[in-house]
Amino acid sequence: MAKKTVLVSGGAGYIGSHVTVELDAAGYDVVIADNFSNCDHTNYNGVCEITGKKLPLITMDFCDLDAVRKLFNDYSIDAVIHFAAFKAVGESVADPLKYYVNNLESFLNILTLAREKGCNVLFSSSATVYGEPDELPVSERSPRKPCTSPYGNTKQMCEDLLRDCVSAYPNIKGIALRYFNPIGAHPSALIGELPRGVPQNLVPFITQTAIGKRECLSIFGDDYPTPDGTCQRDYIDIVDLAKAHVCAVARMLDGKMEEGYEIFNIGTGRPLSVMELVTTFEKVNDLKLNYKIAPRRPGDVTAVWCDPSLSEQKLGWKATRTTEQTLASAWAWEKKLAGK
Ligand code: WQD
Repeated sequence: MAKKTVLVSGGAGYIGSHVTVELDAAGYDVVIADNFSNCDHTNYNGVCEITGKKLPLITMDFCDLDAVRKLFNDYSIDAVIHFAAFKAVGESVADPLKYYVNNLESFLNILTLAREKGCNVLFSSSATVYGEPDELPVSERSPRKPCTSPYGNTKQMCEDLLRDCVSAYPNIKGIALRYFNPIGAHPSALIGELPRGVPQNLVPFITQTAIGKRECLSIFGDDYPTPDGTCQRDYIDIVDLAKAHVCAVARMLDGKMEEGYEIFNIGTGRPLSVMELVTTFEKVNDLKLNYKIAPRRPGDVTAVWCDPSLSEQKLGWKATRTTEQTLASAWAWEKKLAGK
């Protein structure tokens, strides 16, 4: 059977690069497209080294409909995985139009071409759509809550765009994967997260503090109603997360979907507190982290973790890597970046 081709928009970024590696390993042809607005070529070069292939790379912006049309005309694309979007929660509050225009327009263009060509669409959504949940763990049937940021709103809106297009156009199928908190790096330390400026997310802030780029980690709040007072999240290893995409693409392309539009939670199902994560990081990497307790960060939810059983049943996927392995990989990547 001919190899199927998967387009990865935003394929040079943190999640896109890991997904590309796993798609290639699973036997798909991968086309990467990225506008390099929030990354450089480090991860693309790493992907080529890991796969041993110079994978096709198109530098383009998905807000440019002509460029998207050209891409879909140049390649016979069976499925597209859409990552190309802005993702800084705080920036989206400060400049909502930047987020609404970019994140919606790019996805509308992809849907337009998916409809024209009859192509499957996998959308990278987020646990942010659940807001502060009433019940834990959250399942795919848990209600979506109003988001506290324009970034979160774009995730909800794009889910709805995909749902409506699938229901109206019989030649499109769609899956939304709702990621919990992706962390860690590829075990080769050739690809990983490359935050620009001061990291907003916990694990890059921890690794940068450990390497000496940041003086001290602030733990945002220790008075939450959780066992140790710090927030709880469902931290999912980036390679495990990437493998979920391969399962989802196979489900779409092998005609296994039970409905035209499906949603899956991608997480471990295990809550971990900020303090537990910090302590595990110290232990597994045999170091001491400089940290202090700071006030709560506005907008943070107390706790969120998922019920991943639907993904296990339907996608045949579940997280396999331990928190220890993941936090060791994050540290190995930081050291590699620092040349240590
Ligand atoms: C995790 C925990 C913080 C930094 C966000 C987005 C979500 C998403 C992933 C994105 C929280 C605490 C953090 C620090 C800390 N998707 N923390 N000190 O907020 O769960 O999710 O990133 O693309 O949409 O909202 O992740 O890593 O920022 O925070 O104490 O310096 O770590 O308070 O409890 P979050 P995070």
